Amino acid sequence: MGKEQPIGVLDSGLGGVSVLRALREVLPKENYLYFGDSANAPYGVKTEEEILNLSLKAAEKLIVQGVKALVIACNTITGVAATALREKYDKLIVVGTEPAVKPAVAAKPRGTVMVMATTATLQGERFQALLRRWRGEATIIECPCPGLMEFVEQGEISSPALRDYLTEKIEDCGGWEADSVVLGCTHYPFVQKMIREIMGPHARLFDGALGIARQTERRLEAEHLLSDRKAPGTIIWQNSSADARLIALGKKLLAIK
Ligand code: DGL
Repeated sequence: MGKEQPIGVLDSGLGGVSVLRALREVLPKENYLYFGDSANAPYGVKTEEEILNLSLKAAEKLIVQGVKALVIACNTITGVAATALREKYDKLIVVGTEPAVKPAVAAKPRGTVMVMATTATLQGERFQALLRRWRGEATIIECPCPGLMEFVEQGEISSPALRDYLTEKIEDCGGWEADSVVLGCTHYPFVQKMIREIMGPHARLFDGALGIARQTERRLEAEHLLSDRKAPGTIIWQNSSADARLIALGKKLLAIK
């Protein structure tokens, strides 16, 4: 495994760009290969078996191109397929994503935490274990958001329809009083401005992107795989969908601060 090989970043679509953005901040000299499986998205409403099969296929697309690490920039893929991917590629650095419940609870012990995520993430064993771990220390509200990633995939991050969708979801989940909102799907940081507006100033928002980027740095450093490059690295964009608009949208989302 060579230091100058790219880091593979995987998502069911463009959500992983929120993780790529943090990776570029922490590791700007690295080259990245971003693969979004938009043709098969959304993953979060599919069965575990379907998600597992799609995830293995999508990850393979990156791995055959010689990535030095695989960053699973998707809570849904991590929940269902991280164990299988780690078993299959046992020599490779595999970094996963999970909803940032721990920092949200730490920020306000005994507070109320609303976790917005896909149905598959919330129902999965991995998240249920996280819930058992933290339930005693905070009130945790699970808020499945089927349909939300589609807004982001359409580049619709500030429309009235999105506002209506989010308002209704927060209402349905009983989330108005939440002290913190965990963005438990990598697509959701792109609509955080609107979530913040709707929830009001009392709620703090949490996502795992920076933590994942730092974890990637630690793992690469431990294996002496950090790039020696002096100049900024590059990004190669790949998507299973033939819709060229998605690559342009990915670049646009990457530039959002
Ligand atoms: N971006 C994904 C996540 O972090 C899921 C979106 C989907 O395919 O449903 O969970």
